[in-house]
Amino acid sequence: MKLKHTTKSNPSSKLWCIYIYTILILPTILFVLYCRHHHTMSNHNSNPASQPDLDQPDAPGLKLAQFGAGCFWGVELAFQRVEGVVKTEVGYSQGHIPDPTYKLVCTGTTNHSEVVRIHYDPNLCPYTNLLFLFWSRHDPTTLNRQGGDVGTQYRSGIYYYDGDQEKLARESMEIKQNETKNHKIVTEILPAKKFYRAEEYHQQYLEKGGGRGCKQSANKGCNDPIRCYG
Ligand SMILES: *[C@@H]1O[C@H](CO)[C@@H](O)[C@H](O)[C@H]1NC(C)=O
Ligand SMILES: *[C@@H]1O[C@H](CO)[C@@H](O)[C@H](O)[C@H]1NC(C)=O
Repeated sequence: MKLKHTTKSNPSSKLWCIYIYTILILPTILFVLYCRHHHTMSNHNSNPASQPDLDQPDAPGLKLAQFGAGCFWGVELAFQRVEGVVKTEVGYSQGHIPDPTYKLVCTGTTNHSEVVRIHYDPNLCPYTNLLFLFWSRHDPTTLNRQGGDVGTQYRSGIYYYDGDQEKLARESMEIKQNETKNHKIVTEILPAKKFYRAEEYHQQYLEKGGGRGCKQSANKGCNDPIRCYG
């Protein structure tokens, strides 16, 4: 009697299971998957620090360039001296936290690079001039390090604004690699991301006198050795 009853009710309980699965469980699974996907996507897309740098150069006809080559003080002064460079700014980019401060960047937790952003007149200063200076200013074979400065903020990087810059950057790296021979170049070549201008006291730091009040020339063509810390 009992057994008969169970066998009898089997088909209907199977149907019941399918019904529950289709109406309740399946939509729930799909909903959870959708939410997770959406969450990942929006996390990625909505972080302003990961957006491309959409700022405009200071004047029409100028172009932007961005380089990381160790402590930004000395790198900035070197670029200030280049004919056709109209303006330079130091800042932070390529990290994952919006509006970082120097103090935060120095903790090494934000993955920002210390960069110099350059407004240049391509008629007076071809991008290749900037690349030449970039390669000659630092050691591109030491990962996350320039001399005594160690950390991801001191990494070597070229951050390009268009396809032409990218192409020239890659070509120049190949040439530099051929010259460097035994040591592998670790420079990253990536699209320029949102640029966070550093605190005002970092801007033109060495020209203003650095930490010791000893001003260094930013005149075009000046070849005086640069004291990177003032
Ligand atoms: C830091 O940023 C660089 C790009 O500039 C990226 O290649 C690297 O994976 C990042 N590192 C971490 C730990 O997020
Ligand atoms: C680098 O060296 C390789 C091998 O000698 C050569 O084939 C290549 O053309 C060189 N590249 C550049 C950009 O000089």
